[in-house]
Amino acid sequence: MPEQSSTPIRADFLVVANRLPVDRKTGPDGEPVWRTSPGGLVTALEPVMKRKGGAWIGWHGAPDETIDGFEHEGYRIVPVPLSTQDVEEFYEGFSNATLWPLYHDVVAPPKFHREWWDTYRDVNRRFAQAAAEVAADGATVWVQDYQLHLVPAMLRELRPDLRIGFFLHIPFPPQELFQQLPWRRQLIEGLLGADLIGFQLPGGAANFIRLAKRLSGVKASRDTIIAADGRTVLARAYPISIDADGFKALADDPEVKAEAAKLREDLGNPKTIFLGVDRLDYTKGLRQRIRAFGELFRDGQLDPNETVFLQVATPSRERVEEYRKLRDDIDLLVGRINSQVGEIGNPAIVYRHESYPRTSMAAMYSIADVMVVTPLRDGMNLVAKEYVACHESDDAALVLSEFAGAAKELKQAYHCNPHDLNGMKETILRATTDSRAARSRRMRALRHQVFAHQIDDWANDFLRDLGA
Ligand code: ADP
Ligand code: F6P
Repeated sequence: MPEQSSTPIRADFLVVANRLPVDRKTGPDGEPVWRTSPGGLVTALEPVMKRKGGAWIGWHGAPDETIDGFEHEGYRIVPVPLSTQDVEEFYEGFSNATLWPLYHDVVAPPKFHREWWDTYRDVNRRFAQAAAEVAADGATVWVQDYQLHLVPAMLRELRPDLRIGFFLHIPFPPQELFQQLPWRRQLIEGLLGADLIGFQLPGGAANFIRLAKRLSGVKASRDTIIAADGRTVLARAYPISIDADGFKALADDPEVKAEAAKLREDLGNPKTIFLGVDRLDYTKGLRQRIRAFGELFRDGQLDPNETVFLQVATPSRERVEEYRKLRDDIDLLVGRINSQVGEIGNPAIVYRHESYPRTSMAAMYSIADVMVVTPLRDGMNLVAKEYVACHESDDAALVLSEFAGAAKELKQAYHCNPHDLNGMKETILRATTDSRAARSRRMRALRHQVFAHQIDDWANDFLRDLGA
């Protein structure tokens, strides 16, 4: 357990995110334990914070607990407590049952509740206050993601001396969808409190600028907005990446290689291993992907005696209704397929609903012959990039949804439309049966892309433009 202390600190560089990089859980013996938090935001920002130092302000994942700050991997952790009501209304409600589905093409219907909005505003104010207390004079504060849209403007009011950046990790929707939100103007104006607003793709930045002009009446020319108070606000795209060198080093580690060999053996040394890795989220296209594999096995296009589809899914937002439904659906679907194809003790689909350490993730990536990433909508998708960084051999393939932000960069992946089941099945087969030369050419191009744009480049580009 980390050493806690209540000494007040002042930091020149702060990350403010709903999640801290570590979650406080209760271990089997009732003792508190700290685990890496789920999701791409933490994977991306952890190496940046280790290099830069400073403070990370966020929630520690357990409701109704107030804990002191502590040092972690060379930077300061500053926990913001959330009550049970905050978790229900701010996190599960407005963040993950209103904004999350709305921003992901309404693949599930967003819910609009006025009391959720009130709590979202209150919790954003508390994050802004925490940042204002910790930031040194003229510090740089980097606010993250859709849970904290109002923080930039609230923080500017409290501390006009700060440089404030904001990065959205998920897609920013087009006008037609965003306009559904009863609190659309307030969210736009919250973001306009920043000096620089970053999006995954140019389309997100363009959507934002259009909405800012329309809802807030600001003037804008290209990526530059003039806010109501006369400040210049930039809105640009910064496609996020991973610490590719770090992932490769993990995959090269002899212990990870041994774990990979054992895993391949445990899976029955199949000729072909397909892999899916996701948070268990309805935006990730798991229902469609598993259905596609079920049909490929059932129709004899994939042979369950020499093929395994390994799907791991981290538990996520388990108290939100759509996630509970998804969990049940996937359990049923996998059970039904495995009862029809494959043999007892040798299932065609190996499904694990749990979270693994990064070393195990690297082992899985390194044995997967074909990685299958098929979200219905995704801001970026770091899993696709992690696979490319970890997989040593060129005799491999990445199947990637055209609706993942990563598809814009990973152009040599086998792209598919996850809504088109037959098309997705054909793409999976093509990625498996293409000539070795064709697969190798694609993998080499993907590797070049992922290693040429790493997470430090992303952070440096953003912070340079922020003038930090
Ligand atoms: P999101 O941010 O929506 O979760 P990303 O693909 O961008 O999606 O990032 C997911 C991150 O979570 C990756 O770093 C991936 O390695 C990690 N991850 C996904 N599934 C698991 C799992 N079962 N165990 C551990 N880490 C996981
Ligand atoms: O951007 C993806 C993201 O929503 C992050 O903001 C978040 O930290 C991560 O996925 C995991 O989700 P959660 O924090 O709700 O478990």
